[in-house]
Amino acid sequence: MSSMFRCIKCGRRYPIGTRLRCECGGLLEVEHEFASVNLTVFDRRLGSSAHPYHSGVWRFKELVHPDLDEAHIVSRPEGNTNLYAHRLLEEYVGARRLALKHEGENPTGSFKDRGMTVGISEARRLGARVVACASTGNTSASLAAYAAQAGLSCVVFIPEGEIAYGKLAQTLAYGAKVLQMRGNFDDAMHIVQRASAELGFYLLNSVNPWRIEGQKTIIFELLQQRGWRPPDWIVVPAGNLGNTSAFGKALRELEAIGLIGEMPRLAAIQAEGANPFYRLWVKGEEALTPAKPKTVASAIKIGAPVSWRRALKAIRATGGVVEQVSDQEIMDAKAVVDRSGVGCEPASAASVAGAKKLVETGVIDPGEDVVCILTGNLLKDPDSTICYHTGALDGITPRFPNQPHAIEPELSSVQEALCRFANEDRIRS
Ligand code: F0G
Repeated sequence: MSSMFRCIKCGRRYPIGTRLRCECGGLLEVEHEFASVNLTVFDRRLGSSAHPYHSGVWRFKELVHPDLDEAHIVSRPEGNTNLYAHRLLEEYVGARRLALKHEGENPTGSFKDRGMTVGISEARRLGARVVACASTGNTSASLAAYAAQAGLSCVVFIPEGEIAYGKLAQTLAYGAKVLQMRGNFDDAMHIVQRASAELGFYLLNSVNPWRIEGQKTIIFELLQQRGWRPPDWIVVPAGNLGNTSAFGKALRELEAIGLIGEMPRLAAIQAEGANPFYRLWVKGEEALTPAKPKTVASAIKIGAPVSWRRALKAIRATGGVVEQVSDQEIMDAKAVVDRSGVGCEPASAASVAGAKKLVETGVIDPGEDVVCILTGNLLKDPDSTICYHTGALDGITPRFPNQPHAIEPELSSVQEALCRFANEDRIRS
């Protein structure tokens, strides 16, 4: 095997296998030997329709899980997500060279599928029978789908009443056993780790290093789409900090194999009400203090992110920053992303709101080349969208509302409504 597990805390190495933590308690990451990587192969596979290389994850197999037998791979396929630009977004953020990479275009509607295809494929290699996760909704939807495809049993732990309906619907529909915890995501994360250790579930949260390997491909694919030319900034929403960690690892590896000369800077954006990583960053602390989370962006409503240590390494290694944004800023940014025809779920819009704030505070120069990651699809959480537009979100005054109007089935009523729409547009412009 050319890949090993290495503890990110004490550096101890282990052969790859079912162990997910070091004896010292630290998280493990996969360490690859990249001596044999032939880079032209990634470009040659572009546009291929052959399993598994038509996937935007497995196209980079040599950088993800080089020794995995193709027979174990479960792929839908994932990735191949698009880059979008729009005048409205550039004006809103105040950056002239702004693109959004839409990870909501993955098979189950979020970036989680990139890590899950690798995690589930590894579960098959290991002969696992039951897979498990805690989730704010997207991980559970993704795991449920991939477990169903692989024919594995799936148990998910979710905070009761706190995950968006689209995600709960997916998870139930794909056949996962759903345990609704009376507690928050952090409680669910705690109990799923204990349950997995005691009951032998194969844990597929981002503490699993293979999830990180899959999520690295967001960066590989982004750079490939740009002809391997890095942007100045990559801006990402930050919750449990798996993505921030994966991005840092991807960039370090690309630099090590000589594929990029210059490191883009990472900006991790937290919701103001769920900001333990932001607080650690501004205070310059070396250990994370958990907090009780509260935010409209339920996907990132996390107070004790498990991957903070490797995320900190990622921010430092790229000369990056951590920023926070309010729920008001998140929902207004989401409305602009939606209005541009791209659309996303609330947590995703944290990246756009964060980029705007970093431009306003002079951290990002308006002329710099910026890519914001959108992490989830608009349809994941229709409630928050409708409540925003109808002014029903607690504590939020929509800057860009679009209210539906009730009418009678008569032409005069239609004409009246059109006049009201025209008035609204005049007031806003
Ligand atoms: N955006 C969305 C849409 C998410 O679902 C998540 C995390 C994040 C951002 C944050 O990413 O954890 O890598 O920092 N969702 C997890 C879940 C926690 O259970 O679905 P992160």
